[in-house]
Amino acid sequence: MKLGFIGTGTIATSVIEGLLKSKAKIGQINISTRSYKNSIKLRKKSKKIRAYSENQDIIDNSSIVFIGLLPKVASKELKICQFKKSQTIVSFVSTLNIKSLKKLCNPVKKIVKAAPLPMASDGLSPTIIYPNHKLIKSLFELTGSVIVAKNENQNNHLWVMSSFMATYASIINLLKKYLLKNKVNNEDANKYLNIFLTGMLFEFNHQNFDLNKSIKSLQTRGGINEELLKRLQKDKFFKKIDINLKKIFLRLKKANDK
Ligand SMILES: NC(=O)c1ccc[n+]([C@@H]2O[C@H](COP(=O)([O-])OP(=O)(O)OC[C@H]3O[C@@H](n4cnc5c(N)ncnc54)[C@H](OP(=O)(O)O)[C@@H]3O)[C@@H](O)[C@H]2O)c1
Repeated sequence: MKLGFIGTGTIATSVIEGLLKSKAKIGQINISTRSYKNSIKLRKKSKKIRAYSENQDIIDNSSIVFIGLLPKVASKELKICQFKKSQTIVSFVSTLNIKSLKKLCNPVKKIVKAAPLPMASDGLSPTIIYPNHKLIKSLFELTGSVIVAKNENQNNHLWVMSSFMATYASIINLLKKYLLKNKVNNEDANKYLNIFLTGMLFEFNHQNFDLNKSIKSLQTRGGINEELLKRLQKDKFFKKIDINLKKIFLRLKKANDK
């Protein structure tokens, strides 16, 4: 199996790193010299990596071609590339729907949209794919887990989750900044938050991911957990997040309905 990556940026690099660490039976991984730093880093990791300056060379030497370009670049670039009917395309581009991808990658018939996350490099990415494709599903399972969307609408809803990463990091950063501001040193702040986050995940799993149960059990009546939650609910903190998740969905839907 020969894989090719058009656009070797953050997400493509994470997926490649995850696949290299896994037991995937891959003969060759073709990447772009364009993303110079990533291309150097990946070439140092494995002899299976081959870098090309032309996207067409990546395509011509790959049975599965991954599109890791930004939306505007992808439409422009794919228009000038030539594909073979036997190839499979996997697009990471959130705002290009299957219909547009079929036009751009004609005569390819096997086209999958996928949303891996940077944690793929550690085998910890939940990857959304649509539509289902046995081989592509099994590849992404090697970099974490795979959720298959039932239709494009559900695919858009699942992609909304991937918009939460930076917000999640910002919430944790707010906690960290609070500690630093109050003279807790960096090492202790990191130590606390690291095991706090890991421990919380175990707590959710103990409750079989019944988060209502966790929310209840993590509060002591009249205690500080109850107080902070009530204060934030009163300030419409959660409602605001929900409203904005819907806005992200509408952006994805608008782009994908074209
Ligand atoms: N990051 C995520 O967590 C994530 C998750 C799911 C999906 N996605 C989607 O994946 C796509 C890529 O995202 P990203 O975060 O990986 O972006 P990125 O880091 O900016 O990667 C894009 C790469 O494309 C390269 N590039 C630009 N023009 C090119 C061309 N004509 N030919 C070949 N390569 C070219 C860029 O190289 P230069 O740096 O040299 O310009 C860059 O390395 C986006 O559509 C994004 O929505 C991202």
